[in-house]
Amino acid sequence: MSRTTIPDLYEKYEDGTPLTMLTAYDAPIARQVDAAGVDMILVGDSAGDNHLGYDDTLPVTLEEALSNTAAVVRGTDEAFVVADLPFLTYGTSMEESVENAGRFLKEAGADAVKLETAPHGETTIEIVDRLTELGVPVQGHVGLTPQRKHQIGGAYVQGRDTDTSSPGEALVETAERLEDAGAFSIVLETVSEGVAREVTEAVDVPTIGIGSGRHVDGQVLVVSDVLGLGGEQYSLAKQYADLDSEIRRAVEQYVDEVETGEFPTRDNAFDPVDED
Ligand code: KIV
Repeated sequence: MSRTTIPDLYEKYEDGTPLTMLTAYDAPIARQVDAAGVDMILVGDSAGDNHLGYDDTLPVTLEEALSNTAAVVRGTDEAFVVADLPFLTYGTSMEESVENAGRFLKEAGADAVKLETAPHGETTIEIVDRLTELGVPVQGHVGLTPQRKHQIGGAYVQGRDTDTSSPGEALVETAERLEDAGAFSIVLETVSEGVAREVTEAVDVPTIGIGSGRHVDGQVLVVSDVLGLGGEQYSLAKQYADLDSEIRRAVEQYVDEVETGEFPTRDNAFDPVDED
């Protein structure tokens, strides 16, 4: 069993088979996601609200993201692991951006990093260029970029802008610039379906959509939404299991059995004493 590589991803993309990607933030979930056969695992900064108990992605630290990534890598054998660079761990200076991104490959064992780019985001496009020149594979991320939540003001669908001559023009141009800078793939988050198709047609690297409809080269979802873990449901996602209910049921049963003396039994004891 060997780990998926970028050439493997491109082979599937060129065959026209949609690529699959899910987030994971720890080894036990990553192990199951990997065994179930996803192509890529994203150790997203969505760990902020889905794993670390923050309200959003902004507080996630470099050390937390490195620790999550290393756990996911240890828990997996096959999936290509992409580590999301947390807010302001890139962009402050080229030196710091390269150093921080490099730690995800050198220390945590990731296969690539992902970073968010604002429309025409010169700074991040330069960083992608430098990282890929140095051998750090980068996945771009355009559309809704949650690290800019205070500027965007909400989870609005992107690509409906009226201030450019054609809707989504800025998204298409930014995606093309990311491709030119060496990004091996581009995530499109919450982009209207028509614009997602325009971007996908404009670039020759796989586009991976979340809330961006059907005309992209692959899909990514947040694992907690897929597994029903964490309470919230979003229309862009599809819930395939209800782990919240299953965990609650199991823990309530455990509490009940301890309180009533049903657990532990003689079978759970070492050198059990004779009750007579
Ligand atoms: O952090 C994350 O989970 C992401 C996905 C929503 C693409 O960036």
